[in-house]
Amino acid sequence: MYTPDEHRYESMVYRRCGRSGLKLQAISLGLWHNFGGVDAFENMRAMLCRAFDLGVTHFDLANNYGPPYGSAEENFGRALRADLQAWRDQMIVSTKAGYDMWPGPYGDWGSRKYLLASLDQSLRRMGLEYVDIFYSHRPDPETPVEETMSALDRAVRSGKALYAGISNYNPAQTALAVAELRRLGTPCVIHQMKYSMFVRKPEEGLFERLEAEGIGGIAFSPLALGMLTDRYLKGIPADSRAGKDGRFLNQTHITAERLSEVRALAEIAQQRGQSMAQMAVAWVLRQKALASALIGASRPAQIEDCVAAAANTEFSAAELSRIDEILLTAPA
Ligand SMILES: NC(=O)c1ccc[n+]([C@@H]2O[C@H](COP(=O)([O-])OP(=O)(O)OC[C@H]3O[C@@H](n4cnc5c(N)ncnc54)[C@H](OP(=O)(O)O)[C@@H]3O)[C@@H](O)[C@H]2O)c1
Repeated sequence: MYTPDEHRYESMVYRRCGRSGLKLQAISLGLWHNFGGVDAFENMRAMLCRAFDLGVTHFDLANNYGPPYGSAEENFGRALRADLQAWRDQMIVSTKAGYDMWPGPYGDWGSRKYLLASLDQSLRRMGLEYVDIFYSHRPDPETPVEETMSALDRAVRSGKALYAGISNYNPAQTALAVAELRRLGTPCVIHQMKYSMFVRKPEEGLFERLEAEGIGGIAFSPLALGMLTDRYLKGIPADSRAGKDGRFLNQTHITAERLSEVRALAEIAQQRGQSMAQMAVAWVLRQKALASALIGASRPAQIEDCVAAAANTEFSAAELSRIDEILLTAPA
């Protein structure tokens, strides 16, 4: 029977999510990969328990994480019942709807019909009465933002979610969504965006907008799906994401140029006394707009490594400019 480490809250850093009452630990764990029906359940349990032992409280899901779609939520629910149920009030569980989930016109994008039906399904799969955060997973150019936001407002008012969030909205879309949620009386508490040394778009106005609105950011894929680690420096391991699941990362992304950048970055990491992964996470967390860096993992040791990044998120001006120099030579 699992008993969490009683010292788990002593060393983890918690950061306030915007101007809300919610605090998130600096490193959160996402279940997009390695928690599906095709993966080993015992490894998932080990990762979730190790994360919780290390002070990680936030676990991020979406309706279609798997494969197959829905299976990450099912597995998370199963692991929760096996090990973590007694600590539900110490956990922040999020889910989302917005990408393709089921066939037909009501299983994709941003309609009220889709979001609310999907939330009910997610709760059933996880065996939960509520999630802590429910996100609109992406903006829908064809559905009025008022309708999508009305679904988030309804989710919170019905008690099926405690906080509303948006993901992948650009600064202008964010301004509209946030204003509508505010009008409805359900504030937007969190924005989930892709951000890493290799994807710096949020620096072009999004972080500024979030700080002005008092919304917390959470950066997903801070390791660029594994590229900003030592994972691929000696070839593509068979058990890596690029080696076993080429849907989002494959050998076409792991070019000689990318690898030479990672090698140059890894030298700076070494001088800082950090692993490459730790420096990539720390670099993301230097942004004041961010409450948390949302990592993925395939084994407990990776979570241990990433969590230790929170111990040093300060960068000297010389380190930052050397990192910029390396990245400026990077292909888009
Ligand atoms: N809102 C959205 O649209 C959206 C989109 C994508 C993701 N997300 C969220 O963000 C989460 C994280 O995404 P991600 O998995 O792409 O994140 P990531 O942190 O950029 O990449 C995770 C991968 O990096 C490798 N890794 C992790 N720690 C390592 C370490 N210490 N040393 C060496 N390698 C390490 C592992 O690769 P191997 O598996 O090869 O070992 C792991 O699977 C998702 O689970 C999901 O919750 C949200």
